[in-house]
Amino acid sequence: MIKSIRLKASSRSYDIKVINNTLSDVLKDAAIPGERGIFVVAAGSVMRYHEDYVRNAFSVFPQGYKLHVLKASERQKNLKTVESLTGYFSANGLDRRSIVFVIGGGVLGDTTAFAASVYQRGTDFIHIPTTIMAMTDSAIGGKSGVNFGKLKNYIGTIRQPLMVINDLRFLKTLPKEEVANGMGEVLKYALIKESRLEKYFSGNPEILRNDKELADIITRSVKVKKHFIEADEFEYGERKALNFGHTFGHAIEGSMNFKVKHGLAVVAGILCASSLSARLGLITPERLSRIIRMTELFHIRKIIRDIDPDPVIKLMKGDKKNSNGKIKGVMIAGESDIKFDVVITEEEIREIISHVKSFYL
Ligand SMILES: NC(=O)c1ccc[n+]([C@@H]2O[C@H](COP(=O)([O-])OP(=O)(O)OC[C@H]3O[C@@H](n4cnc5c(N)ncnc54)[C@H](O)[C@@H]3O)[C@@H](O)[C@H]2O)c1
Repeated sequence: MIKSIRLKASSRSYDIKVINNTLSDVLKDAAIPGERGIFVVAAGSVMRYHEDYVRNAFSVFPQGYKLHVLKASERQKNLKTVESLTGYFSANGLDRRSIVFVIGGGVLGDTTAFAASVYQRGTDFIHIPTTIMAMTDSAIGGKSGVNFGKLKNYIGTIRQPLMVINDLRFLKTLPKEEVANGMGEVLKYALIKESRLEKYFSGNPEILRNDKELADIITRSVKVKKHFIEADEFEYGERKALNFGHTFGHAIEGSMNFKVKHGLAVVAGILCASSLSARLGLITPERLSRIIRMTELFHIRKIIRDIDPDPVIKLMKGDKKNSNGKIKGVMIAGESDIKFDVVITEEEIREIISHVKSFYL
């Protein structure tokens, strides 16, 4: 075990483990009673490389387990997939005492956790995330859900997992572009709370293949997320900080029909929100320049150039974080402050998008 971090949310406390190649030991230690059914929902892309390892690990359960392998991409993150998953649960005898293990990235994690959360009014699940995005962010904190048309994560729940097992082994087969994608949310953590993560955006991206560095990135990110969830599990206030970059980011992602990766859309959103923070006088031009430099790792020139303000504004108006008909977003302030529920006008969105495009002329 590299690390075990206890997250104490108001609804449930649970461990977030960071391990390397010891999944069967962790499953054995979890001491899950024999009468609880074990259902594993796993991404095909992960099982292609790790099937023997996964099957060997789950063989520790005397009650056996059922394995359901599926393909999940952002465009399948919808109610149709939830219906098919709950259909599978029902046809295979999953009951409320069963535990669903989800092995995959954020898309499969969000969709399956949502299906489990609503199945028979709530079934327990354990996340075994396999991408940097999922290990640092989506598997932590209990938010699950699916897209609704072009509206991102519009239908969902907040229900905490029983445990999260971050096994570095899975990252060995993660495609290079998915490493950059996952680092988008890590950039968010660096800017809202943990500036020690900034060093990972200044140098050679190959550093991100090193287990020691990855364990550091994951544990520091998990601790930032833990901080906000423990303070405000249901997002009435402080947890909103985690949405930094997401009001713009989700709208950019939806406006491009989810063809752009979530983490990269978030980086584009971070650039917009940081520029707006500078325009509002909340951060200095010098901090904005530093942030622009940190985004170079992500190669988002094409995404920025392709942003079309009209559909972005339309989707921002439909964002679930708005209230009283006003678009609201999170801004950064000074070197380490955050301001949430900042009202953003349509005119500001147009100006900011055009300003951010000018960085890439
Ligand atoms: N619930 C939350 O709080 C929260 C937070 C952040 C992001 N999210 C969601 O997470 C999603 C993005 O997740 P993601 O970036 O993990 O994308 P993803 O789930 O699409 O995974 C990326 C790709 O990598 C493949 N893959 C996954 N693990 C692999 C491995 N170990 N080896 C080889 N291939 C592997 C997947 O099959 C997929 O093709 C978005 O839908 C976003 O909305 C949710």
